[in-house]
Amino acid sequence: METLDQLVQQAAADFAAAVDGAALEQAKARYLGKSGSLTERLKALGKLAPDERREAGAAINRAKDAIEQALDACRQALREAALLAQLAAEALDVTLPGRGGAPGGLHPVSRTLERVEALFGSIGFIVADGPEIETDWHNFTALNTPENHPARSMHDTFYLEGHDDVLLRTHTSPVQIRAMQEHVARHAEREHMPELRLIAPGRVYRVDSDATHSPMFHQVEGLWVGENVSFADLKGVIADFLRKFFETEDLQVRFRPSFFPFTEPSAEIDVAFMSGALEGRWLEIAGCGMVHPNVLRFGGFDPERYTGFAFGMGPDRLTMLRYGVNDLRLFFEGDLRFLSQFR
Ligand code: PHE
Repeated sequence: METLDQLVQQAAADFAAAVDGAALEQAKARYLGKSGSLTERLKALGKLAPDERREAGAAINRAKDAIEQALDACRQALREAALLAQLAAEALDVTLPGRGGAPGGLHPVSRTLERVEALFGSIGFIVADGPEIETDWHNFTALNTPENHPARSMHDTFYLEGHDDVLLRTHTSPVQIRAMQEHVARHAEREHMPELRLIAPGRVYRVDSDATHSPMFHQVEGLWVGENVSFADLKGVIADFLRKFFETEDLQVRFRPSFFPFTEPSAEIDVAFMSGALEGRWLEIAGCGMVHPNVLRFGGFDPERYTGFAFGMGPDRLTMLRYGVNDLRLFFEGDLRFLSQFR
């Protein structure tokens, strides 16, 4: 029969060989279980003489302690191994890019409007605005547009149901009227009225939709009224603005005679770049002219004393040109794959 020392060594070796908790408990049963080898020896003590029994009992108890220590050590080792395995299996890869929380950015058209506001702001233009749901009077009548003008037709203009005198403004020009009336009312007492210099960016609406027309689009109105404002001022302001906006001197600006009911004379403003993909092509970017005397009068100014120029630009078009975008609808579809390129 093996010695107690051999038994302890054997038990320690069996425990160490156990691959998991179940195998370890089975090995434990072989030594400490009801009929385990150490338990059998304890039972056999009864057959010994009393003085032998004490010594042998003490030796068996020491062996039992040693086996239990070995068991505890192996249990602990298995627990640690299991924990390490779990950590490895459920590891977080902290180097993966996170989801969401991407920084937002300004819409490209908003960027253009901010640039336009900053550039005109630097030469003393304030920013004005007016309602998008406008009266027929502000949108057409006060802008000298005759009753039978085609722009007033339902094919061109969104009217509010049940109201033939309320519509979605078709241009930002009604802001001219509102701003002039406010300006005159504010400064009526003064002998010398201060000049009125404003831009009015905003949304406008027309019954129109294709690659270069959207039923909703943007305009920036410009207006400068004073005692000596001339067409030469208009040309200088616009040409200067365009060179600053596009950040190039390599740009030609042309004023092409045109017609608007609210300006006289009137012109379309075209630009041509002297280099790049659009080299040499004339592109229309605004309408403009000297404010019609009737419009000045509707605004409250005396046309014998005051003159002014006005223009209406397409900031969507300016944005397309500046960033090389060829379909206007991309601006209004809200597709982040497109919009995030401008962040
Ligand atoms: N309101 C005109 C348009 O929408 C543009 C314009 C504004 C023309 C001011 C002249 C003066 O086409």
